[in-house]
Amino acid sequence: MGSTPHARRPGGAASPRMVRGARVPARASSEHSRTKANPVSETSPAPGGPSIDEQSITAAVDAALAAIAAAPDTAALKQVRIEHVGDASVLTSANRAIKDLPKEQKAAAGKLVGQGKGRVQKELAARQAELAAAEEEAALAAETVDMTLPTDRRPRGAAHPLWTLTERIEDFFVGIGWEIAEGPEAESSWLNFDALNADAEHPSRSLQDTLYLAPENSGMLLRTQTSPVQIRAMLERGAPLYIACPGTVYRADEIDATHSPMFNQVEGLAIDKGLTMANLVGTLDALAAHLFGGAPITRLRPNHFPFTEPSAEMDFRCFACEARLGLEHDADPDCRVCGGTGWIEMGGCGMVHPNVLRAAGVDPEEHQGFAFGLGIERILMLRNGVADMRDMVEGDVRFSQHYGTEI
Ligand code: DAH
Repeated sequence: MGSTPHARRPGGAASPRMVRGARVPARASSEHSRTKANPVSETSPAPGGPSIDEQSITAAVDAALAAIAAAPDTAALKQVRIEHVGDASVLTSANRAIKDLPKEQKAAAGKLVGQGKGRVQKELAARQAELAAAEEEAALAAETVDMTLPTDRRPRGAAHPLWTLTERIEDFFVGIGWEIAEGPEAESSWLNFDALNADAEHPSRSLQDTLYLAPENSGMLLRTQTSPVQIRAMLERGAPLYIACPGTVYRADEIDATHSPMFNQVEGLAIDKGLTMANLVGTLDALAAHLFGGAPITRLRPNHFPFTEPSAEMDFRCFACEARLGLEHDADPDCRVCGGTGWIEMGGCGMVHPNVLRAAGVDPEEHQGFAFGLGIERILMLRNGVADMRDMVEGDVRFSQHYGTEI
């Protein structure tokens, strides 16, 4: 190491400044970079002179402390930290320079710089804690939620109970491997009556029962039953066939507590080889258990429908009163569900009439089947204690909320 200062800058100009010892400028990073360019190790300290300028260090510490005190927030304090104790700061540069000082100066310089830097760091930490706490407090105050403000009071809707019950019925049939089929509500009178073996004089065809669609000779009506879907399904899918078809039907009825001109049915149809009434009863038993719970007891009473032979009315044992416990138990005479009879009339059923099979392209010699039809509103009334059918069509969301969530 020579005694001549290495004062050449890359540009060839003489360094504007010789560094004595590790004298470090109090300010200005440009001077600092010069310090770097003129490593103190290559300077020759004046014998006995202070190698790290006490004044500069004190000024740097004072400047740092003033900046710390003036920092308004943690972001500003971060800048202060970088500027005053960061890599390029006066204090850090001085610290770096200590190692190149003559041995006898190192202790004093180290103490001076170390203590100065220590004070700055301590103040930084204290100010950091202070500002962070203030910021957190401000954030909490800004994010405060006023629990007393009114909430979004738009009322919530709910699935209509008829719809939830329909889904429950569909679930049953899908669960036993049947398919769900659909048909249109505006139906041809051929599918609604003729193909279902209703003769031309059948009373249900009368204008009093059926809502016909204009024009008069269109042959179209609002279906009075879901049974035409039987024909549609057989024509489309052929045998064997296991389908359930829920849907809306229409009749020229006045609306009252138990009647409505528009209501819903679910039709069941099974076509296969060798099906008997026993298969029908087994299916109805399982459906009764699914809908009303408990051990099912069903009963068939002879009846007449044009599309089935034999035909029957199906009754489920009342699920609400003593009668549910078995045939040997008497019904509660005041039971709101069975009216004291012990039985609930559920709908019609029977073995599919050969004429119906033929109309739908199924050979009655090869395939047999059973069918049934139930009213969904009626099931809802019985099962969920809905007293008035009009409540179901009024559209009051409280009705849906009450029954719709329960099913
Ligand atoms: N369609 C009949 C009605 O609306 C109900 C019915 C009875 C459907 C017997 C059937 C059945 O499938 O076999 O009253």
